[in-house]
Amino acid sequence: MLIKSAEFVESNSDASKCINTPLPEFAFIGRSNVGKSSLINALCNNAKLAKTSSTPGKTQLINHFIINKNWYLVDLPGYGYAKVNKIAKEKFQSIVTHYLEKRDNLRCVFILIDCRLAPQPIDLDFIEWTAQQGIPFIIVFTKTDKLGKVKLAESLTGYQRQLDYLFEELPNIIVTSSEKKIGLTDLADAIEQIINQK
Ligand code: GTP
Ligand code: MG
Repeated sequence: MLIKSAEFVESNSDASKCINTPLPEFAFIGRSNVGKSSLINALCNNAKLAKTSSTPGKTQLINHFIINKNWYLVDLPGYGYAKVNKIAKEKFQSIVTHYLEKRDNLRCVFILIDCRLAPQPIDLDFIEWTAQQGIPFIIVFTKTDKLGKVKLAESLTGYQRQLDYLFEELPNIIVTSSEKKIGLTDLADAIEQIINQK
C-alpha cells in the first residue's frame, strides 16, 4: 500500500477523549526510545510528522494521525524506561493500558522491540498481556541498522526462542530500520492486509 497522505489529527491524555470513529486504527507501542515516532515518520515519509528525541519520554500523549484519509496511525508514550522517573513511567503505562482496553476500532498493535537488547521482561510481559486481551499484534524489531548481520541474526533467533516458548504459534515479526528505511513496505503491506480482511 502506498501512503499518499498523512496528517496530524489530535493529541489526547486519555483514551476516553480520543476521536470517535469507525475507521480502522493501528498503534505503535514499545518502551520509551525504542523508535515508535521515528518509525511512524519513516513509514509516512515525513520526518516532521511525529516528534522524536534521543531523550526517552518524548511522546507523552496519544497522538492520532490520519493516513490516506481512511485509517488512523497512533503514536503512544513508551511503557517503561529505567531512566524515566517512576511517576512518569506509571502515568505512561496507564495511558497505554487504558487506550488498549478502550479502543474498539483498534485493528492491530505494533509492539516495537530494540533489536540490540536481549529479551526484556517488561517487553515479554507486555506482549503476553496484549495476547491475553485478545488484541491482534505484530512484533517489530527496530534500529536494525545498529547491528551487523551476524549479531542481528543472533538477536532475532534469541527473541524467537522466547516467543516460541510463550506461544503455540510464532507471532508475526517485521524487521525494520527507520534510519535505513528497512521493512517499511512490510509494515504498510501488513496494515493493508488487515484493513482488507473486513
Ligand atoms: P518516546 O516517545 O520517548 O517513547 O520514544 P520513541 O519510541 O518514540 O523513540 P523516537 O522515535 O523518538 O527515537 C528515539 C531515538 O532513537 C532517536 O534519537 C532516534 O533518532 C533514534 N532512532 C529511532 N529509530 C532509529 C533507527 O531505525 N535507527 C537508528 N540508528 N536510530 C533510530
Ligand atoms: Mg515517541
